[in-house]
Amino acid sequence: VTDRVPYHSAIEPPAMLGLLGGGQLGSYFVMAARTMGYRTMVLEPDAAAPAGRVADVHLVAPYDDVASLQRLGNECAVVTTEFENPSASALAALEGRTLVRPAASAIAIAQDRRREKRFLSEIGAPVGAFAVIDDAAGLASHGISFPGVLKTARLGYDGKGQVVVDSQVELATAWSELGAVPCVLEQLVDLRGEISVVLARTPHGDIVHYPPVENQHVDGILHLTTVPAVVHTAEAVELGRRIADALEYVGVMAVELFVTSTGLLVNEIAPRPHNSGHWTLDGAQTSQFEQQVRAVCGLTLGSAAQTSPAAAMVNLLGDLWVAGEPQWHAATAHPGAHLHLYGKHEPRPGRKMGHLTVLADTPKAARDAALACRQHACRNLQLDH
Ligand SMILES: Nc1ncnc2c1ncn2[C@@H]1O[C@H](COP(=O)(O)OP(=O)(O)O)[C@@H](O)[C@H]1O
Ligand SMILES: [Mg+2]
Repeated sequence: VTDRVPYHSAIEPPAMLGLLGGGQLGSYFVMAARTMGYRTMVLEPDAAAPAGRVADVHLVAPYDDVASLQRLGNECAVVTTEFENPSASALAALEGRTLVRPAASAIAIAQDRRREKRFLSEIGAPVGAFAVIDDAAGLASHGISFPGVLKTARLGYDGKGQVVVDSQVELATAWSELGAVPCVLEQLVDLRGEISVVLARTPHGDIVHYPPVENQHVDGILHLTTVPAVVHTAEAVELGRRIADALEYVGVMAVELFVTSTGLLVNEIAPRPHNSGHWTLDGAQTSQFEQQVRAVCGLTLGSAAQTSPAAAMVNLLGDLWVAGEPQWHAATAHPGAHLHLYGKHEPRPGRKMGHLTVLADTPKAARDAALACRQHACRNLQLDH
């Protein structure tokens, strides 16, 4: 039985909360929901996925499976997502039956780089030079000067689905290698750094934001997050709030930003909790996942204050397993270190297997300790970053 609720009233435990997607972001959402006494139902085709293992109900089926979407719609008081690629038809099917937070309209913008860039431009958020490449004609007349980055409009993540191109010939080759699908071509930005802001917005329009953080990527994959960021933080928060309000967003979202010599550019919006917010599991009064539960259920948001002056989070990618299972006791030999492993069985290179967060008194101390813990766990590997 569904606890159908009017839009502005709170969804309280033991209501059933639905989730599209079963990765690690989903598993933390499920654990936060369960801690608060909610029941959880996850739709995820991989029977071994992290969130499926901890949910009350795991529907092992494709994301657009009609019968499973009907069950989610009928049995869940609200459905949310842990990835940006649920199909429009799946979300529409759910919206006919229950609350979907964030709304399909917001997810549709965040999951398509063309719509995302147009939306950001429309609301006056700064974005780098870009062109939409839908077909061969767009390829011939884009007006972007090289070097550029060609990105598929949809389904890219962790640097997948994008190629740096230095000439018109390379661009043409890259476009066909990416499948000649709709793309955006971005000018390559001269990065001084990258920051992100994670925030939550309720159905009432209340917003709570975490302190903006500084991110370091390697090969397009987030490597290290340091808390707090020091440059352009007020501007990042203002942009995050403006974007969330314009989307009438409900839930947790992240905005990734480029720091350039002339200020901030918005890179992309994630309509879900974010890897750069994982430090909140150990270093904030309310984690981004508890915040997601609170936001989609229409509860009062929790405090986003840090519990220590600084924190750093380093991702543990499958690359660390090449010489066998790392020595985890060494990774936790620091009293401020918190180890998270997602229980994935296949440690493929570039795959996010876990992360490690260290709380400390300064960003530098946190960062040094986090990297040292990771290196200690992989004594046989020479880690160059
Ligand atoms: N236009 C660009 N200029 C410079 N670096 C970029 C640009 N686009 C992407 N990158 C780098 O690649 C990373 C991943 O790109 P992003 O668009 O965020 O894709 P994903 O969806 O895979 O996270 C960015 O965080 C940044 O480090
Ligand atoms: Mg990104």
